[in-house]
Amino acid sequence: MDLSAWWMPFTANRQFKSDPMLLARAEGMHYFTPEGRPVLDGVAGLWCVNAGHGRREIVDAVAKAITELDYAPPFKIGHPYAFSAADALKAILPPSFSNVFFVNSGSEAAETALKIARAYHIARGQPDRVWLVGRERGYHGVNFGGISVGGIPHNKAAFGPLLREVDHLHHTHDLDRNAFSRGQPVEGAELADDLLRIIDVHGAEKIAAVIVEPMAGSTGVLPPPKGYLERLRDITSEHGILLIFDEVITGFGRLGAAFVAQRFGVEPDMIAMAKGMTNGVIPMGGVAVQGHVHDALMRGPAGTIELMHGYTYSGHPAASAALMATLKIYAREQLFERARSLEAYWEDAVHMLRQAPNVIDVRNIGLVGGIELNPLEGRPGARGNDVYRRAFDNGLLTRVTGDTIALSPPLIVTEQQIDEIVEKLGNAIAASSKELE
Ligand SMILES: Cc1ncc(COP(=O)(O)O)c(C=O)c1O
Repeated sequence: MDLSAWWMPFTANRQFKSDPMLLARAEGMHYFTPEGRPVLDGVAGLWCVNAGHGRREIVDAVAKAITELDYAPPFKIGHPYAFSAADALKAILPPSFSNVFFVNSGSEAAETALKIARAYHIARGQPDRVWLVGRERGYHGVNFGGISVGGIPHNKAAFGPLLREVDHLHHTHDLDRNAFSRGQPVEGAELADDLLRIIDVHGAEKIAAVIVEPMAGSTGVLPPPKGYLERLRDITSEHGILLIFDEVITGFGRLGAAFVAQRFGVEPDMIAMAKGMTNGVIPMGGVAVQGHVHDALMRGPAGTIELMHGYTYSGHPAASAALMATLKIYAREQLFERARSLEAYWEDAVHMLRQAPNVIDVRNIGLVGGIELNPLEGRPGARGNDVYRRAFDNGLLTRVTGDTIALSPPLIVTEQQIDEIVEKLGNAIAASSKELE
């Protein structure tokens, strides 16, 4: 196979092409390489295959939908698949959420939420509310809005000027106080008060929205400190600032509930989602908004397009059908509840990795784990990459960011498979430590 033409995303292309890793097939909890070697999926593909691989009823629903209606434009005309999918999604959202705007990815979901936030304030006669506040170590996809509010310097460095009216909260990662926390760290609720500093600098009347991942995933699994999200909600509400939760990773059961609102009882004004929406089968994302956000924009003379925004493939029949079939599986197999009930077993299992060499932190929440490794001097990320590769060669797919290995298996994972994930990763860490010392 010629590997040269595909310019791969977030990949060291030249290195990859000299030493490729390939997946050819998937079923249940496993991938299979082209040679037929099974690889246990410790990361639900890329945090998205929450119901496990090869779910026939999603594939059948997609096939049926596109056989009947391959494509229909979503601007000024509709089709039953998208309306029914929005209804089905609304049924698992907190009751205050009235509407869903469909997009095609997590990046588009974040971008859409940011644009709705600005449009909301303009519609309410507060056009000066333009500042968007993200958080250090935040990831909101790769579009210009997302990387502007995002807090990963590497993701911005090559792309020149970004959005200007953007500021960032201090991140919540604090190994001195919270290393080896089980579940939510105890220390750090006061970090939400950093928003008061930003309000002091710019003025609350200039700030449109705060966007955070309730649990930062891409920068290495950072569960929210106890009380932090609650405090952020209080401050934003007090100052008329919209709160956006980017639940692209945390939505659809990853933290043992449909969304963080149901897990922690904190309701943002908007929820950006993607990943688990269609079990990874078809690209789809969405932004769910509370009634007051939607209603503020439903104004203007008859015939006015209220939001000048949308995508050719918003609510595509195939994606809508995949979403409905996926939600049916989640409900029938009670996978969100399953994730919650496995959480204690998962926590005990991943914290065993504390004993492995060079592990400087283990973090967990829901069915997510983060194992942070001591970076090699002068070579940040090298140890993480080495462990990632060894785990793969040993039959386990993980995700690596810097020197943190992230785990987030499909919610169908068994206790035995959890043990297998921990054993394989422990072996990879030990072998890597031996080799690299
Ligand atoms: C919190 C968050 N937001 C946005 C995105 C971007 O999603 P996508 O890659 O589908 O554009 C991701 C992807 O990992 C994410 O974790």
